[in-house]
Amino acid sequence: MSEAAITEEVRALYEKYPFPGPYASEKPPQLDGMTSYTYVCYQAFREYRSHQGRRILDAGCGTGETLRRYALNNPGATLVGFDLSQASLDLAAEKLGRVEGVEWHLEQRDLLELAPPKEPFDLVSCTGVLHHLADPLKGLRNLVPYLKRDGIFAIYLYSAYARREIEMAAEIIRMLCGPQESMDKRIDVARRFFRGLPAGHFLLDQAKFETDVRDWIERDEHLADMYLHPREINYTFDMVLELLDGAGLEIVRFYDEEAWDLERLLPDEDLRRRTMFMSRRQKYRLADLLHPRPSYIFMARHKAYTPSRTVGDVPLISPVAAWVTRRPAVARPSIPPDTMIEVLGFAHRSYRLDGDAVEALALCDGARTVDEVADARAAATGADVATARKINRTLFTTLEKQGIVLMKPKEASPGTGI
Ligand SMILES: C[S@@+](CC[C@H](N)C(=O)[O-])C[C@H]1O[C@@H](n2cnc3c(N)ncnc32)[C@H](O)[C@@H]1O
Repeated sequence: MSEAAITEEVRALYEKYPFPGPYASEKPPQLDGMTSYTYVCYQAFREYRSHQGRRILDAGCGTGETLRRYALNNPGATLVGFDLSQASLDLAAEKLGRVEGVEWHLEQRDLLELAPPKEPFDLVSCTGVLHHLADPLKGLRNLVPYLKRDGIFAIYLYSAYARREIEMAAEIIRMLCGPQESMDKRIDVARRFFRGLPAGHFLLDQAKFETDVRDWIERDEHLADMYLHPREINYTFDMVLELLDGAGLEIVRFYDEEAWDLERLLPDEDLRRRTMFMSRRQKYRLADLLHPRPSYIFMARHKAYTPSRTVGDVPLISPVAAWVTRRPAVARPSIPPDTMIEVLGFAHRSYRLDGDAVEALALCDGARTVDEVADARAAATGADVATARKINRTLFTTLEKQGIVLMKPKEASPGTGI
């Protein structure tokens, strides 16, 4: 099939079944680190960058779920969304119309036919899109000029290892349907197929996606996107690297970086010693085989970019504290009314913090160092500075372990690309 014919089939699918549909917006809006430009840049470059005035592009924005999150987490930014499907863009416009504080505009564009931009973006997001293109490398190369020299690219690609069962089910459904069968009929066949499987059947087990197949298939748009797609490429880690390489990009880190930790995945110390001299790339490959993630979701940058900062410029404490919601603990007579803090990273976690930690976190502004936070607190309370600094260092070391703050890495190295 020609590139244009594939694109047309994909467009037709998303015109009929815009993804992920309007449903997700029924959930209350959340602050989250994954779509905070400041937080993501801190993780990627160890640099503090404000989100104010930033330009963010979501290429293949679908029904605007990701854009809505970018809007909430980057007040003062300008958002742009491109998508092939007008029905999806209409839903996205409805959602964005309900968010205040950001400028946005949406355009119907084919990523395979993009002209160079008038002005590049600070962050380009392309999630769940490249693997549906007739030519992913061409699409990615078209997007590269849209990313500023020091910009950050958020990419999500399907994983071949994780989607093995999905591929198999999709193939079964294809075999059960005639080539001319309408989409409505295919939906019907697919649903009957899944409903007919005995409980516990391996094709129903999607625990790694944190979804229940039986629920997932109840929505036409989910069923169509997952099992009836006309174009889908599933990637291995090496394929991901090859794709990025071809576009002059490199991975800085995964959003779920903790999940790639070989210490956890390969507990046998003797075996782990055998990995000591492997390259970073090989270690990721191994981690991918040991425990495939549901998808590859990572931050990338231009290969040619090297951050220009020096050790002295780096704020010691990131403003992660600014990306937490504070809410009173559920009042129970046995528990003092401490503050609950929600850490907004890839996986949300909640911690109960005492008043001391809450006070210290309130002073994190992305510029102060740990000692400066201690000094500010000592000045306010009249405490001894040396003691305050000592206590504060211990406190922040614990907070960093919990992922509540990020501190400057020991070396001034930026995230080294894979
Ligand atoms: C699975 S949806 C992902 C939507 C959104 N990025 C998200 O993560 O929720 C894929 C989207 O890519 C869009 N798309 C597919 N091919 C495209 C192309 N050639 N140009 C622009 N958008 C495209 C589809 O219209 C669809 O909205």
